Parts: sequence; structure tokens; C-alpha cells
Amino acid sequence: MSQPIVSIKSVSKRFGSFVAVDDVDLEIAEGEFFAMLGPSGCGKTTLLRMIAGFETPTEGQVMIGGVDMSHTPPNRRPVNMVFQSYAVFPHMSVEKNVAYGLKMDRVPAAEIGPRVKEALALVQLSQFAERKPDQLSGGQRQRVALARALVKKPRVLLLDEPLSALDAKLRDAMRLELVKLQKSIGVSFIMVTHDQDEALAVADRIAVLHQGRLRQVAKPEALYQRPADAFVADFIGKANFFPALKVTRAGAGARVETKELPPLDFPAAPDGNLTLAVRPEKIGLGPEAEGEVRIEAKLGDVAFQGDSSLVELLLPSGRALLAATHGKSAAWVGAQKEGATIPLGWRVEDMLALKAD
Ligand SMILES: Nc1ncnc2c1ncn2[C@@H]1O[C@H](COP(=O)(O)OP(=O)(O)O)[C@@H](O)[C@H]1O
Ligand SMILES: [Mg+2]
Repeated sequence: MSQPIVSIKSVSKRFGSFVAVDDVDLEIAEGEFFAMLGPSGCGKTTLLRMIAGFETPTEGQVMIGGVDMSHTPPNRRPVNMVFQSYAVFPHMSVEKNVAYGLKMDRVPAAEIGPRVKEALALVQLSQFAERKPDQLSGGQRQRVALARALVKKPRVLLLDEPLSALDAKLRDAMRLELVKLQKSIGVSFIMVTHDQDEALAVADRIAVLHQGRLRQVAKPEALYQRPADAFVADFIGKANFFPALKVTRAGAGARVETKELPPLDFPAAPDGNLTLAVRPEKIGLGPEAEGEVRIEAKLGDVAFQGDSSLVELLLPSGRALLAATHGKSAAWVGAQKEGATIPLGWRVEDMLALKAD
């Protein structure tokens, strides 16, 4: 990475004895769309507020553009924040809402008009400049909030769950708009979300947080294919887990015994407690059951999804696995009766040996 636009160096934040952010190191690149993802309460907003300057780290340092921000107040930082509840002023027109921040900063009046115009054009609200917020849709109000932040020309835009107030369909459309906007203006975006689909859809890279700690930072594809541990594998996408009962180490590798699978050898395995995982689409069914891992299960519910099906498979232990099939195999499953015995198969190399919590 050339000089990162934001560096978070060993940052912790405690509220009393409660650790909200725990020794986090992160670097965000110039022009990057970066997402911070994790369950509610994991410290995402607190981390974002420390970048913005609304919270002070208990330990560590936030650098922006190579400059230590420890003594820089929020309004002097080259960042701007779009809040979770994007409060637009109801009594002001769209145009006045967007101009407000520039007025407060005493930007010369001659400069304000053109900058507001430009910001409204960016978020496609030019024709709504005179409207009041209550004459706008939810998506349009959200774009006013974006324009209000962008008009100040931040080097980094901080977004705290910016789409959470929108309904599902609008949210999907706004995701694409956000990505287009970010790529067209080249400003770094740091977006906080608890929604994995949202993070996967928009971000160049994602940081996964859990209880204040960073679990993994990677591109979406790598998070899915090579999760750092069982928490990440569970949080990103769907996975079937088999907790290890006995682990026999051999060099870097391990033989792993579980309740429901034959003993399996892995050429590499992390230290500590292990759990094995396999993604639903790696499980072959019926005529397509191949690979070293062979078991049988009874057919449960099948959720037809057009070009594919999600299949529930009941193991003799009583636990259910989830498989995703398409094409020939989906057609084959569709012809089976509920409760039928189904042969399953997958390859050891399609399994993950992960550190369990
Ligand atoms: N000002 C505060 N005082 C005390 N606890 C706080 C404060 N702000 C946040 N917390 C706590 O820190 C944890 C992380 O909060 P937050 O960063 O808002 O999580 P997230 O945005 O991931 O949902 C939560 O348990 C929250 O209750
Ligand atoms: Mg939050």
C-alpha cells in the first residue's frame, strides 16, 4: 500500500472497565471502499467515531494522510461522517441543507452556490434542490445526507450503517449507487455495517470485528474462501460446522476426528481448538457425490430458488446440514421424496480446518 489515507495504530477504547475497541490495527488506502463489518455492539461505530474525532482513543493513534490526529478536533479533520440516523433539517430545502455546513465553515458565498450544485448533481438530486425533506422519498433523503457530507470535499467519507433505514429493495439499489459514486469521485469511503451482504456487495476490502477485536481484513472473495477462523466462516456466508473431538497433530497438519465424519487428514491446521467447515455449494448430492468425505443423510426441506435449490439434510445425529445444488443435481434432488436416504460427498480440500472460539 502506498501511504494509507487512514492508519489506525494499536487503538483501544474503554468506557469505564468495558473494552469497546481492543487493540485494533488497520490501514485504509487512498480511493478505497472499505467496510467494517460485525454484529451489533462489536465496536464499529466507536471505531468510526475515533476516526472522525468524536471519541478519543484510550490507547493508540489515528493518523489521517500521514498526520497524527490526536490533537485535531473533528471539524479540522479531512473527513466527514454520514450518520446512522441521517438527520436532515426538515424546515430547510434540499439546497439549504447541503449549503448549511459550508455556511457554518464561513465559505465565501460565491463559492457555496457552485459547490452545492456540484454535490447535488453527484447524488442526482439537482431537480429537487427546492424541495423540503418531507417531499422526498427515503432514498432521496439519504442522498441529501450524502450530498451534505460530500459538499465539504472530505478526503475520507465515513458512513455509519447508511442504508439501514431503507427498505430492502431500495437498499439494494442504493448499494450500487454508493459504489458508482465512490468510484466516480475517488474519495475513500469507510462504511460500517452489520449486514454481511451489504459489505460483500460494496467493499473493496472488509474488516471483520467481534467484541472489539479485529478478526480478519481481506477482500470479499478471500473472506469467503479463506476465513481466518470459525467466527468469520460463520458470519460470512453459510457454512456447515463439525467440531473436532480429537486432533492428532503431525507437523503443520492434523488428523481430525468428529462425531459425524470419518477421520480426516489436513495438510495444514491452525493451533488450538478446531472445527471443520464445508460450504453448502461444495457438498455433492446423489449422482454428484464425489470426494473423500462420504456420508449419508435423510432429505429434509428443499427450498427451490430458480436456478438452484437449498437442501436440508438430516444426519443420523439429528443435526441438519445445508447443501446448495444446481443443474442436474438439483433436478435429481427434486425427484426424491422427503425422508429419502441421500448419499453425500465432498473433497477434503473443499473443507476448512478452522480455529474454534
Ligand atoms: N459512550 C459510551 N459509554 C458506554 N458504553 C458505550 C458508549 N458507546 C458505546 N458503548 C458500548 O460499546 C460497545 C460498542 O458500541 P458500538 O461501537 O456502538 O457498537 P456497534 O456500532 O458495532 O453496534 C457497546 O457495547 C456499547 O454499548
Ligand atoms: Mg453502530
